[in-house]
Amino acid sequence: MSELVRIENLQVYYPIRSGFLNRITDNVKAVDDVSFVIEAGKTYGLVGESGSGKSTIGKSLVGLEDPTSGKILFEGTEVTTIKQKKALNYNKDVQMVFQDSQSSLNPRKTIGEIIAEPLKSFGVPGKIEAGYQGERSFDQVLIDQRVLELLEIVGLPARTITQYPFQFSGGQRQRIGVARALASNPRLIVADEPVSALDLSVQAQVLNFMKKIQRDYG
Ligand SMILES: Nc1ncnc2c1ncn2[C@@H]1O[C@H](COP(=O)(O)OP(=O)(O)OP(=O)(O)O)[C@@H](O)[C@H]1O
Ligand SMILES: [Mg+2]
Repeated sequence: MSELVRIENLQVYYPIRSGFLNRITDNVKAVDDVSFVIEAGKTYGLVGESGSGKSTIGKSLVGLEDPTSGKILFEGTEVTTIKQKKALNYNKDVQMVFQDSQSSLNPRKTIGEIIAEPLKSFGVPGKIEAGYQGERSFDQVLIDQRVLELLEIVGLPARTITQYPFQFSGGQRQRIGVARALASNPRLIVADEPVSALDLSVQAQVLNFMKKIQRDYG
């Protein structure tokens, strides 16, 4: 199997500031010397007690946190810093589903806009270049189609498109987060406890379609 991601001696420290001058007096060693390899088409679980740094590893992997030291490689290319990740359009290929769906969805945007964000940044996967003579641009039609398809995958009705995050339950919001992560057909999805807020039956649904996506797209 081919290597997708390699993490070498990753360290992420958060500074602790204190005193009159608010100087950095110590560090929280959230992640201290972690190395592992992720192969394409496989599923990995990261296990550890609360506060042991699991979410922090995920965040530095997707580019929400710059490592203090160490290296992250994607198919052999270094993508350690947020800057390096941006330069490579890395987030088209690596997406994250968050533990806390409450704070990871912009409350001012409709669900349609939220799910369309990665499609606007990275394009609609597998889009066919064909002429379209309608009122709206062809791209917008493709984006709308893809958003509807994603909503169907996560089991939400089409009318969801015009609604806002506060109108949904925790479990429904989590499904919206999963739909957004799937939008650009990423190569790797970092899922930070994606189903812990869901009912057992819905957990199974979400995990099953994540498996299906993995089978279909590797
Ligand atoms: N932005 C931050 N600033 C300072 N410290 C942080 C920050 N984010 C996380 N930490 C600290 O880093 C450590 C690791 O946190 P992290 O969220 O990665 O743990 P976790 O393994 O995901 O825990 P849980 O299972 O509870 O989700 C904790 O001690 C946490 O307090
Ligand atoms: Mg966590």
